[in-house]
Amino acid sequence: MRIILLGPPGSGKGTQGDLISRKYGFPRISTGDILRRAVRERMALGLRAEAMMNKGELVSDDIVQDLVRQRIAAEDCRRGYVLDGFPRNVPQAEALETMDPGRRELALELMVDLELLLQRLGARLVCPACHALYSREIQPPRTAGVCDACGGALLSREDDRPEVIAERVRVYLRESEPLRAYYQSRKAYAAITAAGPVPEVFDLIAARVDRELGMSGTPQGRGRE
Ligand code: AP5
Repeated sequence: MRIILLGPPGSGKGTQGDLISRKYGFPRISTGDILRRAVRERMALGLRAEAMMNKGELVSDDIVQDLVRQRIAAEDCRRGYVLDGFPRNVPQAEALETMDPGRRELALELMVDLELLLQRLGARLVCPACHALYSREIQPPRTAGVCDACGGALLSREDDRPEVIAERVRVYLRESEPLRAYYQSRKAYAAITAAGPVPEVFDLIAARVDRELGMSGTPQGRGRE
């Protein structure tokens, strides 16, 4: 099975993707994390992506499709995977179906008001080393500025500046409707109210995923789902 997390910047895709990964054992694949690491390590991929990311625009479809194609071919994705930040538009969604055809899928769109998104992004801290997420408001690290998990120095993301957030939201609004229609037409879409506390949102997601897994009676641990 593949679980696709849709939603605007700050809606909680990374946060909920981690929880889904832990509960169901599917790896979380975040195109944003992979791209940010490539930028930090000055890899060719990162150099090509950096300018677009810093402006809040989408990186080219070819770049992200290549990296997703390689990642989902890995052994740990055989049973399934959670996509956080991909696909971002209909061409990417069609490419996903071509690279991994016929896999059962569920697209969950996290719905949050703009005002709340801005508040969340303003409070976000990330660990560039291990990608752990924190919030100054709801989930501060034990020691200010230090990652609980790996001891790395926490930072605000380069693209969490107000003018870049505005562009990221604009891009999301432009692409979300056709993408939503694409997954609705495949009967693989659910909107999740994601304004509540993290555990409450996760309960809604888990209920929907359980329903999807239960409907086909496919137990975990079997082959490709
Ligand atoms: P990406 O990294 O995917 O960013 P995004 O989609 O803008 O989403 P965010 O990571 O900002 O937010 P999130 O929804 O994961 O929220 P989070 O859980 O962190 O992409 C970055 C850039 O890379 C793009 O702009 C683009 O340039 C490029 N890119 C990536 N994928 C691409 C693709 N497929 N095609 C082309 N370009 C691509 O939560 C946010 C904060 O809120 C955290 O601090 C968290 O602790 C807190 N929080 C979470 N849930 C709650 C809650 N329920 N209540 C209170 N606080 C909460």
